[in-house]
This record gives sequence, C-alpha cells and structure tokens, in this order.
Amino acid sequence: MNATQTKASEPILGGKMYHIALGRGDIPPYVLMPGDPERVDKIAQTWDEYTIITQHREYRSARGKYKGVEIGALSTGIGGPSTAIAIEELARIGVHTMIRVGTTGAIQEYIRPGDIIIAAAAVRLDGASMDYAPPEYPAYSSVDVLMALIEAAESLGVRYHVGVVASTTTFHLGQTRQGFKNYMWSGVERRLDDLRAMGVLSFEMETATIFTLASIYGLRAGSVCAAIANRVTDEFVAGAGVLDAIKVANEAVRILAEADRLRGGFREKPLTASLIARVAAKH
Ligand code: URA
Repeated sequence: MNATQTKASEPILGGKMYHIALGRGDIPPYVLMPGDPERVDKIAQTWDEYTIITQHREYRSARGKYKGVEIGALSTGIGGPSTAIAIEELARIGVHTMIRVGTTGAIQEYIRPGDIIIAAAAVRLDGASMDYAPPEYPAYSSVDVLMALIEAAESLGVRYHVGVVASTTTFHLGQTRQGFKNYMWSGVERRLDDLRAMGVLSFEMETATIFTLASIYGLRAGSVCAAIANRVTDEFVAGAGVLDAIKVANEAVRILAEADRLRGGFREKPLTASLIARVAAKH
C-alpha cells in the first residue's frame, strides 16, 4: 500500500488516524475537547507553552504545558457523529482522559449567561450514542473528572452548577427552536418544558456522546460548558463564561494528573475527596 492507501476497516494514513490526523505520541493523554476549532487556539493561549499540531476538517489540535502538566486539545466539530469519530481515534492513540469544554443553552431560569455548567450526566438525545448502546445505558461523567471539575470551579471562584444536561442531535428543532418558516412538530415542541420540569440544566450537543463512549471503553470523560444562552429568559450572550470554562478544565487536568501520579494511575485506586483536596491545595 502507498501513503494514500489504507484499510477501509481501520483507516490510518502514514501512522496518523484518518480524520484527526494524529498518531500515537502526537498528543498527551489528557485532552480538552471544544466543539469549535477556533477555541483550540483560545484554550492553548491559556497554557504556559503550546504548539498547534494539525488541522484536518473540523479537527484542530494543540499540545502544550499547563503548570508543568502535558495537556492537549482537539476540537470535535458540532454534534455527536463527529465527536464519536474524535473519541474513537483519540482512544486508539492512547488518550485516556477527555474533557468537553463547550457552550450550552440553559433551560432553568436561575442560570445566568456566563455561568458554568458541569455535567454529572446527560440525556441521550444525541443520536450518535444510540449506535453504541441502548437508551437504557446511562451517559454519566467519570467520577474522577466530575470531582476534579467541581474542585477546580470552587478554587477559581466561578459561579457554577452541577447536574444533568441534555445533548441533542440538532440545534434548532432538537432544542425546541422553531425551524425555517416557523416549522415545529408535536414530537419535540414540549421537549424544553418537559426537560425543565425534570430539573435538566441545559441543552448542548456533544456531552452524551463523550460520556457514553468513554464509559464503554473504560476511559475518563467530563464536561464543563459556559451558559451563553438562557432559553427561558431568551438571552444570548456570545462568548460569556467561555474563558472561565477553559480555566476550570485546565485546573481539573492539573488536579487529575497530579492525583494520577500520586496513586500510580487512575485504574489502580479510586480518586478520593481527601486526595483531591491535598492536590488542589498545592497551587
Ligand atoms: N449550544 C447549544 O447547543 N445550544 C445553545 O442554546 C447554546 C449553545
């Protein structure tokens, strides 16, 4: 096979995964995952040093150091299908911890634009995860990553909420926004009110995919999003809280990496609250 030929069952070109264009060793095992490729640069600029690795389609990647910890970022594009590809390919090159750093639209009135939402679990309306497991299978955050994100948000003093988010397949109808020419149908028109009554915090589009696949594969996943919209008050503030979400994710990686080092890897021993407190107090 020459450089442009590969196996259809497992496409790898010149040692690089076909879609994300990364191979083993190209990106550290702790990776932040924004939807937007442009946010990869914004994330990397908050590290102590960084290099942009590559860009192919919606997948832009960077690696660098944050407070001495090797850290990476890879954009997923919007929605479950492209996110599932990113996870499949990252897993094959040794990534074990993935944190979504995104934006979200709150559906509870008390959540303000700029607040941070840390997902403990996600309602699986993403579509993509249905190719992997039946709807009864839960999409839940890794406990390690959830605890690290909460600790990070506390220590940074940001306004944050922890709970269930809903990941939808589409931004418009899937999140009970009218389609073109005010199109709506009965299957989704009550979705926002129903989920709000169930205490769901917000709509976004990738968390359920990341949580489901990571859980199946024994990897760790978390999700921290900035609420840039509130669907109850009908506010939309582009970019609100995004830098805070990035800072929380960076700090969570530092906590996880240090805790992993102290206990000899994350598969050996569960992460306890006392170990998190010890590690968090170090900086
Ligand atoms: N992302 C979403 O999926 N929905 C919103 O309302 C805002 C961000």
